[in-house]
Amino acid sequence: QRVGAEPRSEFTQVRHRVPMISLDNAMDDGELADFHRRVTESVKGGADVVYTAEPKLDGLAVSIRYEDGFLVQAATRGDGSTGEDITQNVRTIQNVPLRLLGPDCPVVIEVRGEVYMTHAGFERLNSDARRRGDEPFANPRNAAAGSLRQLDPRITAGRPLTFCCYGWGETSEPPGDSQFAMIRRIAAWGVPISRDLRQVMGLDACRAYFDDLGRRRDALGYDIDGVVFKVDRLADQAALGATAHHPRWAVARKFPPQEALTVVEAVEFQVGRTGAVTPVARLRPVQVGGVTVSNATLHNMDEVRRKDVRVGDTVYVRRAGDVIPEVVRVLAE
Ligand code: IVH
Repeated sequence: QRVGAEPRSEFTQVRHRVPMISLDNAMDDGELADFHRRVTESVKGGADVVYTAEPKLDGLAVSIRYEDGFLVQAATRGDGSTGEDITQNVRTIQNVPLRLLGPDCPVVIEVRGEVYMTHAGFERLNSDARRRGDEPFANPRNAAAGSLRQLDPRITAGRPLTFCCYGWGETSEPPGDSQFAMIRRIAAWGVPISRDLRQVMGLDACRAYFDDLGRRRDALGYDIDGVVFKVDRLADQAALGATAHHPRWAVARKFPPQEALTVVEAVEFQVGRTGAVTPVARLRPVQVGGVTVSNATLHNMDEVRRKDVRVGDTVYVRRAGDVIPEVVRVLAE
């Protein structure tokens, strides 16, 4: 019973009993140090404050509500206080449990996390789309968003979506002492969490985690746009509180973006071993996700026509993982 009945004409609204606020960004090391200083000024333990560290997944935030262990509702973040009811779609995501495991799961728990698409799933979806002559998606995030917001859950069911929990909303029981312990408990109930979730102590350990994940970014097989650090002790989180927009106990240290603008200087045609001809854009070299890109695939002539790419155009190029950099679209403006 993962797939629902007849498609609906619109999504119904869901009010979040605990708001889904977003994160403040730290764009460089100095901004991370500023965050750490603000935290150490307000919590006991000084510079040795413990944080959880985990990837910032580049997908869509969802809240999944379980009652008596059964998945009863799932919603998008929306504006943070009201989202859309996407229960039937979320039920089709293979790694989302429809029932929590174990006798100790609470009467009510809202599990929060990101729905995203892996590079492998995205490539498969797009090559199927190209074969059918349909419009491919620009990136895994757009593909995940488009898949999740389908009114017909049978379409969502055919899309390679993945869920990863990084937090919680309403709970009928107190969550315990630490962020890390609570996420581990949620995992024990059968909910997927990040395999890269760690506890780190102090600013230097945060930096080391950020550098290490940055080095491994391309090998993860899915898009991340940074690292999220959260003060681990829940009592400290409560004491730090939140502004209207974001918690004071968490920060997103961002990586350089995997899309950039540059100019097409020429187009060349590569002939492969099988005789297939691939148009390749020669680009004005540009930094994308920490690597210099000077060539990008245009896939085939249908794609060149569809995107209407011409020499001299300013284009968005994207690289992620082992995937060959590609021209995503022309900046027509
Ligand atoms: S925590 C109160 N952890 O980033 C803190 N968010 O800019 C709530 N995101 O809307 C968010 N990975 O969609 C958190 N490991 C992670 C995340 C994460 C991705 C997204 C999430 C959120 C946005 C905030």
